[in-house]
Amino acid sequence: MPQIDIEVNGKRAVHTVPASRTLVQLLREDLGLSGTHVGCDTAQCGACTVLVDGRAVKSCNVLVAQLAGRRVQTIEAVAREGVLHPMQQAFSEHHGLQCGFCTPGMVMRGIAMDSEGVPADEEQVRRGLCGNLCRCTGYEGIVKAVVAGLQRMRPPCEGGSAHAGL
Ligand code: FES
Ligand code: FES
Repeated sequence: MPQIDIEVNGKRAVHTVPASRTLVQLLREDLGLSGTHVGCDTAQCGACTVLVDGRAVKSCNVLVAQLAGRRVQTIEAVAREGVLHPMQQAFSEHHGLQCGFCTPGMVMRGIAMDSEGVPADEEQVRRGLCGNLCRCTGYEGIVKAVVAGLQRMRPPCEGGSAHAGL
């Protein structure tokens, strides 16, 4: 069986897994990280979204064997020392969840949108969430939460416009 060296939530380890082992199986079944959910197992719902080297990926659709040397982050590592991540805080304040099943994937997708430079406006955020489904259909709150989360993750620059001298 292949031996794959992966960092998960800051801990690097070598995993000996069958070639067919998916990332979500490694996370949930081998590492006990059950915050990453499985809604479809066919790359449609986004409930299994995690970050790989900062990019959002659907972990049901990625093989562990593809991840040698990569850095994986799951919902369990988003809050720091008991303090919610700004995106999690925004979900809490803007009622971005109902049953909560889709929420870990939504939060991870929202965090990835920051590094992708997705503008913090409703239309762009809706487009960015097109691969994440909510069976409770709570999209209004989810979109508002991601917009607010992106705004919090991007503090206003000091000193006014970067183009002030042009
Ligand atoms: S469980 Fe991975 S996309 Fe639905
Ligand atoms: S809050 Fe229930 S599936 Fe989205």
